[in-house]
Amino acid sequence: MSKSSETRLEELQDLEPSVAEFRASVVEGLSAPQKTLPCKFLYDRRGSQIFDDICDLPEYYPTRTERRILERHARDIAALVGPEARLVEFGSGAGMKIRLLLKALDRPAAYLPVDISREHLIAANTDLARTFPDLCIAPVCADYTAPFALPDLPGIAHKATAGFFPGSTIGNFTRDEAVSFLAGARDLLGRGAVMIVGADLVKDTGILRAAYDDAAGVTAAFNLNLLRRINRELGGTFQLAHFRHEARWNAALERIEMHLVSLRDQEVMVGGRRFGFDKDETIHTESSHKYRLETFRVLAAEAGYEPLEVWTDDKQLFSVHALRTL
Ligand code: AVJ
Repeated sequence: MSKSSETRLEELQDLEPSVAEFRASVVEGLSAPQKTLPCKFLYDRRGSQIFDDICDLPEYYPTRTERRILERHARDIAALVGPEARLVEFGSGAGMKIRLLLKALDRPAAYLPVDISREHLIAANTDLARTFPDLCIAPVCADYTAPFALPDLPGIAHKATAGFFPGSTIGNFTRDEAVSFLAGARDLLGRGAVMIVGADLVKDTGILRAAYDDAAGVTAAFNLNLLRRINRELGGTFQLAHFRHEARWNAALERIEMHLVSLRDQEVMVGGRRFGFDKDETIHTESSHKYRLETFRVLAAEAGYEPLEVWTDDKQLFSVHALRTL
């Protein structure tokens, strides 16, 4: 992809984690007493596709609920952000929600999607460039849980900066990690920027459990795909049939946890190392923290944000917070 004054699709800034980083994380995670694997590695090509399927499941309410909230309040968001803004999206994925915002914004200057999956970034933004031919699109392939810089866009002036972190992806962080992520985003965006964050709400545990353990087994496939990726990219010897998916509600920490449960005593090789599993031992692969409106505001304040607005749906399933960096 090269610069072109027609599409204004900038060259991709590529900081995708390497196989070596993946191996080091996996070896470290599987060496801990409670085995863990970082959830960011769920999103290889196949994982990203399965995640898109999750978003369409009847049980998985967050995506469509958030989309409805954004549809209803896109104009409110545009009014808070103001004209000629550059918009930074953390974890852009398939890039559906951003269209809603871009359509509502007053002459947006630039769109900077940040995503860990290079393939997702390229596909989504080639499409977007067609819909918004005058928009400067500058994709950044990076792990936004670590510090990174925004690319320079010479010749593209902006009057405001906005951040967008939809999908309740912030729920994947622990509370402390969420505070440091938001603090990092504040540094990246600068003072006076509007930050729009989707946060899933604490609710009936039956609804939550079903959303993370759907009847069709799509979430199970998403979770197990991580073992397939380890086998492929790191020469692992996981037998997928010897593990099963489990979604647990951790009441103390108000989060859903995804685990892969070992169905038997077994040994697995990864990266030249041997890892033993007892029957019923688990690998914790993801946490999805649920928030209350007020506790989220307190968290955001700790990270250096002032709350502007918060919107929810009628059933109080999901929340979208508008914050401003101080
Ligand atoms: C993309 C992190 C928001 O936690 O709900 C969906 C990922 N995991 N089903 C979430 C996920 C299992 C999702 N996020």
